[in-house]
Amino acid sequence: MSQLTAPRTRILGTGHYLPEIVRTNLDLEKMVDTTDAWITERTGIKERRITPEGMVTSDLARFAAERALENAGVAATELDMIIVATVTPDMPMPATAVFLQQKLGAPVCPAFDLSAACAGFIFAMSIADQFIATGAMKRVLIVGVELLSRVIDWSDRTTCVLFGDGAGAMVLGPADGAKTDDGRARGVLSTKLLSDGALAQSLMIPSGGSLSPLTHELLEQRQNKVHMRGQDIFKVAVKNLYSASKNALELAGMTPDDVDWICPHQANMRIIDLAVQRLGVKRERMLTNIERVGNTSSASIPILFDESVRAGKLKEGETVLMCALGAGISWGSALVRL
Ligand code: ACO
Repeated sequence: MSQLTAPRTRILGTGHYLPEIVRTNLDLEKMVDTTDAWITERTGIKERRITPEGMVTSDLARFAAERALENAGVAATELDMIIVATVTPDMPMPATAVFLQQKLGAPVCPAFDLSAACAGFIFAMSIADQFIATGAMKRVLIVGVELLSRVIDWSDRTTCVLFGDGAGAMVLGPADGAKTDDGRARGVLSTKLLSDGALAQSLMIPSGGSLSPLTHELLEQRQNKVHMRGQDIFKVAVKNLYSASKNALELAGMTPDDVDWICPHQANMRIIDLAVQRLGVKRERMLTNIERVGNTSSASIPILFDESVRAGKLKEGETVLMCALGAGISWGSALVRL
């Protein structure tokens, strides 16, 4: 984890992509025994995006990445490293990152996937920060992308109402001493990453790996789909999001009062609300889009971040706290001054 006297890394550009198909709560009412009222009250979600047939994870990643590169004024040929955070890769092998590399026309460079579920983007940001800090890399593309609609059991009302598809990306580079007009350093101020395998079974896709290779029987039992004990996650989410965020602030020598915006992983409105409340950040400083996009796992933070940048909400010199928790369980936080 990084504790910085001066930021070494800064965000050069951001982008996101959401597939066009919208699946509303009313659509779900026709598919499973649920109601718009239940979903809205328990999760805050009204609709989510679904990827059309023929489009794959690396396509979503590509559209988000192209927008981030354009926003950064960086060509794909300048990239030194590509990290793709995802739990829904194009295929188990090779990495989705190399398909993205191919589609972007990026040069030969390290390109790899990272599996930390909803916390994946924070993990990717922290790893990129370490490589840039050593001077080893100058232009790192990090992408959070999920095509969860293909691994959701659309007959399971306890999970299918929560998730959506999408991609978000950032191009990171050296901070090079960049400062705000009033002389404060711009860039990644701190990151904090954690995992606790004791809760590994709370959220998983049980079959399709070495533990349980797929058989016709397992496919019929939908063991290749997401299985979740929602209450397990709920119980630890608020506490862990709070503590990781507090740690990231402490590492940067800051307090919740120094935070201009909080950009939390869009897991469930109740979880986010409680975590932000506990942290003591004012609700009006909380960014949210869960109502429109649902839980897009690793894509959640970069989509929300980029939407907020493009809407003119996030401005140069402001401090943004990102935090996420998901399967693993893995969680973390990152503090950035724009
Ligand atoms: N529609 C209607 N009823 C439902 C639905 C639904 N979609 N889903 C569950 N129910 C029912 C249950 O069957 C249960 O009925 P019962 O009392 O007759 O048994 C009742 O509603 C209450 O179920 P709970 O599981 O107790 O409901 P809860 O208030 O905990 O909400 C939820 C469930 C939304 C999943 C919640 O636990 C949650 O958000 N947990 C965190 C999960 C999460 O955020 N996961 C993602 C984070 S990790 C990541 O992002 C990958």
